[in-house]
Amino acid sequence: MEIRIVENENKGFMPKESELGFGKVFSDHMFVMDYEEGRGWYDARIIPFGYISLHPASTVLHYGAEIFEGLKAYRTAEGSVQLFRPMENIKRMNTSAERMCLPTIDEEEALEILTAFVKHEERWVPHTFGTSLYLRPYMFGNDESLGVHTVKRATFMIIASPSGSYYKEGINPVKIMIENEDVRTVRGGTGYAKCGGNYAASTRAGERANKKGYSQVLWLDGVERRYIEEVGAMNVMFKIDGEIITPALTGSILPGITRKSCIEVLRSLGYKVTERLLSVDELIEALENGRLEEAWGCGTAAVVSPIGRLMYRDVEYSVNGEKIGEVTQRLYDILTGIQWGKLPDSFGWVYKL
Ligand code: PLP
Ligand code: COI
Repeated sequence: MEIRIVENENKGFMPKESELGFGKVFSDHMFVMDYEEGRGWYDARIIPFGYISLHPASTVLHYGAEIFEGLKAYRTAEGSVQLFRPMENIKRMNTSAERMCLPTIDEEEALEILTAFVKHEERWVPHTFGTSLYLRPYMFGNDESLGVHTVKRATFMIIASPSGSYYKEGINPVKIMIENEDVRTVRGGTGYAKCGGNYAASTRAGERANKKGYSQVLWLDGVERRYIEEVGAMNVMFKIDGEIITPALTGSILPGITRKSCIEVLRSLGYKVTERLLSVDELIEALENGRLEEAWGCGTAAVVSPIGRLMYRDVEYSVNGEKIGEVTQRLYDILTGIQWGKLPDSFGWVYKL
């Protein structure tokens, strides 16, 4: 596929790697490609990073036709750059597109685009272990009319942000609040799709949690507010009585690529991992009886993040004495080891550029 390139004559500077936060600094270029019904995708281009202009009636502005992905480019100790299971992100993007009536992209072409873009922005992949170039592919509808229907015009873009740790805590345990008022999504809704609207709807609860000193909320199911779903930007796992339990993918939870990878790693190590419905009552009982040994969240941005405190109905519980648990640490070491190329890629997950 042909990708037109317009060089940015005003190149930026990488901030000090120790000061990289998450998603605040952007690389010099962005990828853009347009779609029109009947014509398909056209004008693939890498152009200087900058503002875009939209028709005031654009579908995304009125009806929220938007989906996105998140993955990282990692720098190995030898200096090469690699991605982690990029095809999984591409497949999930097409699943999200289908749910939101946006056009899909040929998987091989999407991988070609991603590769070409990361190669072009290679100097923005930081060198310190734990830092990476966070890649944000996204797509939105931009029909120039107010009718509500499958979009006829869309834009696909990728931006890149050199990033450090997602939480200010780094790999230290985070505090999470179990939300029992707002819900994120319901079965039959858009929970399994990575669409902007899910996050807009989540923000109110997230802000309330932040004000009380918690990093994020843990969502309960949208019908009974009884079953554990996931955290704001990560899936969750609990070690109860030696068994690892993670909420089953019921349709309202994002099928995380880190979640899937953690399950595969844990099973290969001989741990029993069960995907099932887990009620908040069962979790609290396990906490009170000391049977909850570890809790952690997992996601691309957050990697593997231990949960040190859980709050439910104004009662705060400490998990594993607020220390990083053994399994959490082991998972973190293995996943990051594979991602940053310190460990052999025994699962075949790494995509070298
Ligand atoms: N759940 C939500 C709501 C997320 O935003 C994310 C982050 O992408 C995840 C789970 C974890 O998914 P992944 O591991 O694919 O990044
Ligand atoms: C990711 O982990 O890639 C995410 O998309 C989380 C994001 C909502 C900050």
